[in-house]
Amino acid sequence: MSRWEGKIAVVTGASAGIGLAIAEAFVNRGMIVVGLARRKAIMEARMRFAQGNGKFIARECDVSKPENLKEVFHWIQSNLGVIQVMVNNAGVITSGTIVETSRQDWEKIFDVNVMGLLECTRHAVRVMKAANVEGHIVNINSIQGHRLRQIQNMSFNVYAASKHAVTAITATLQQELLGGKIRVTSISPGYVKTEILEAISDLDIDKLKVFSSFPTLESKDVAEAVVYVIETPQRVQITELTITPFGENM
Ligand SMILES: NC(=O)c1ccc[n+]([C@@H]2O[C@H](COP(=O)([O-])OP(=O)(O)OC[C@H]3O[C@@H](n4cnc5c(N)ncnc54)[C@H](OP(=O)(O)O)[C@@H]3O)[C@@H](O)[C@H]2O)c1
Repeated sequence: MSRWEGKIAVVTGASAGIGLAIAEAFVNRGMIVVGLARRKAIMEARMRFAQGNGKFIARECDVSKPENLKEVFHWIQSNLGVIQVMVNNAGVITSGTIVETSRQDWEKIFDVNVMGLLECTRHAVRVMKAANVEGHIVNINSIQGHRLRQIQNMSFNVYAASKHAVTAITATLQQELLGGKIRVTSISPGYVKTEILEAISDLDIDKLKVFSSFPTLESKDVAEAVVYVIETPQRVQITELTITPFGENM
């Protein structure tokens, strides 16, 4: 039996890719999962066939909007109870060099990948602390959050910077929460086959083809890693877990 059965988890970006797989894995283990994403109908449709004793609740939410987050966390506390697992997964990427892109482009990345993660973490930790429960914050980072990997002549401007921020934020939280009941983990995948690259409108077919020749992870591989990390006993804190596709030259 899962130690988190019947407990409440929030997963951001649960409408696609890694977040969807994490939400499915949690429901499968009997957790009550609140999925946050902008595309609520898609999230509900994709989660309809999730199996297990758990429950999935879709909430429309843009994690880059603090007022949206305030409302949704208030709703969770009033209607469901205390969040014990917070998975900060929602993330975006854009292509183009730093010099070619604009302040607006950089803000779009940081508002989701960094500010959204910070806001969700703050809401969740406050609730966990007030209720004095065991909790776990899981940040979906990237290998790009630890070292830069040049992919042909492509640049993803501030994406790696945003993920380096996730590495530093995770370490800072681990220090700040030392001695309490809340564990914090960064999970850093290599290339995972999801919709994330398709969302980059200015990447042409030839550039996307480069990625199809790479060894890839599947979203469920990352989801299984998240389950492993949260299922470890409370005395264990996996601070960082890096997962790359076997055969990838890192
Ligand atoms: N795929 C990879 O190779 C890879 C590798 C390493 C790390 N990662 C990280 O893994 C995480 C998930 O990526 P993925 O590959 O699964 O991407 P994906 O398939 O594009 O899914 C991204 C998810 O984030 C949500 N999202 C984006 N902007 C949002 C916003 N403003 N508010 C709420 N939700 C938002 C999307 O939902 P809506 O569009 O419905 O809002 C979607 O559910 C990201 O943090 C990414 O950086 C991915």
